[in-house]
Amino acid sequence: MFVADCLQVNRQGHLCVEQVDVLDLAAKYGTPLYVMSETQIRKNCHLYRDSIQQFYGGNGMALYASKAFCCKEMCRIADQEGMGLDVVSGGELYTAISAGFPAEKIYFHGNNKTESELIAALEHGVGAVVVDNLEELETLDRLAGARGVCQQILFRIKPGVDAHTHQFIRTGQIDSKFGFSLETGEAMEAVERAIGLSHVELVGLHCHIGSQIFDTEPFALAARIMIGFLAKIRQQTGAVLTKLNLGGGYGIRYTPQNDPPPYEKYMEQVSLVIHETCNLFDFPMPYILLEPGRSIVGPAGITLYTVGSVKEIPGIRTYVSVDGGMTDNPRYALYQSEYQIVNAGLAAQEKTMQITLAGHCCESGDLIGENLPVQHLEKGDIVAVLSTGAYNYSMASHYNRVPNPPVVLVRDDMDRVIVKRESWEDLTRMDV
Ligand code: LLP
Repeated sequence: MFVADCLQVNRQGHLCVEQVDVLDLAAKYGTPLYVMSETQIRKNCHLYRDSIQQFYGGNGMALYASKAFCCKEMCRIADQEGMGLDVVSGGELYTAISAGFPAEKIYFHGNNKTESELIAALEHGVGAVVVDNLEELETLDRLAGARGVCQQILFRIKPGVDAHTHQFIRTGQIDSKFGFSLETGEAMEAVERAIGLSHVELVGLHCHIGSQIFDTEPFALAARIMIGFLAKIRQQTGAVLTKLNLGGGYGIRYTPQNDPPPYEKYMEQVSLVIHETCNLFDFPMPYILLEPGRSIVGPAGITLYTVGSVKEIPGIRTYVSVDGGMTDNPRYALYQSEYQIVNAGLAAQEKTMQITLAGHCCESGDLIGENLPVQHLEKGDIVAVLSTGAYNYSMASHYNRVPNPPVVLVRDDMDRVIVKRESWEDLTRMDV
C-alpha cells in the first residue's frame, strides 16, 4: 500500500512511522517536519553489508554517501552499522569528524576541492581522497609533502557508461564534469603521473555512473570496464591497484510504479562480473567499495505538512497549499520527481482527490507534485509526502527566508529530534 516498509496504519486509521502516529508527531513538533525511521535506515545498511559478505566474501565495505542526508546522528548511525563514509565537501567532512566518525573510513570526493578542504582532509587523516583532475593531484601532492605525509588516493574515472536516469543526475558518460575520461587517454596519463609523485599513493579507482538507476546492467558494465582498466594499468605500468569503488546510484520506490531490484541483486550481479573479468585478465580480486546514499535513507523518510488552503479551479486543477515546499524539497522543481502522498489522518481510506501540492514560496514553480491522487483533504489536515529521506533535508534552502524544518528520528514507539527546527532568529544570525 505504501512505497516504504517503515510505514503502517494504526487502529485510528492514522499513518505511522514504525509505531509512532505521525499526527502525534505533527502536534508535538509542528510542521513542516521531516520524520525518519531509524530501524529502516539500519536495515538498509545491513542489506549492503550482508550482500558484500554473501556475494563477495566480505572483501569490501559500503560507504554511506552522506550527501543524501548528512547530520551528526546519521554519521553515528553509519559508523555503528560498520559503514564507511563518502563526503564531498569540507562541511560534510566537518560534520563527520564532529560526530566522531573514524577518519580512516572516510573517502573524500569532489570535482573542485579547495586547498582548505584538502588541508582539512590531510589533517584529519581521511582514508582516501578521490582525485578528480590533474590540478588537484599536483596540489594534493604538494600539500601532503609540506606536511610530511603520503596520502592514499583513488582516481575518479568516467567509464563511459550512460545510465538511464535524469540528465542532471547522470555522471558516468564522457560529457560530465566529474573525473578522468578513459576514451581520451587522460585517465592513463594521470595514473602515470601519480606513480611518479612521492606524497600520494594511488591505491585504486572510483566510478559513479548516476543516481536513481533501476537496472543492474549498467553497474555490471561499469565494473567490467573498470577491471579492464586495472589490468591495463598493470600491463602498462606494473602497478597493481587493489581498491575498486563502484559508487552509488541504486534506485528506490517513490511511487508504486517504481520497481527497483532488491539491493543484494546489485552485489550479486556485480560480483559475478568482477569474478569473470578478474579471471579473464588473471587479475587479483580488488577490495570493493559501494557508495549508496538514496537507498539507505530515501525510503526511511517522510515529510509532514499542514494544509492551509484548497483552491479548486473548475475544469483545470485543485491546488492544495501547504506550509513547506521547494525550500524543504526542491526535487520536483529540479527533476520533476514523483512522490506518493497521503492524508495522514485518513491513511487507510480510498484516494478520491487528484491534486497539485503547492508550497508557500512566492514562485509558481514551487510545487511538490502534480496530478497526485490523495484521500479527501481540507484545511488543517496533515499531509505526508513519502520517500523524502534522501536529498530533501540535504538540499533544503532558505529561499524567501523560510527556516528549515527539524528532523525527528523514530525507533519502535520512541521519537527524538536529531536536527532542531531553525528559527527566524537563526536566519538572521549571519546578517551584519
Ligand atoms: N557516490 C558519488 C560519487 C555520488 O556522486 C553520489 C551521488 C553517490 C555516491 C550516491 O548516489 P545515490 O546512491 O544516492 O544515488 N540530488 C539528486 C541526486 C544527486 C546524486 C549525486 N551523487 C536527487 O535529488 O535525485
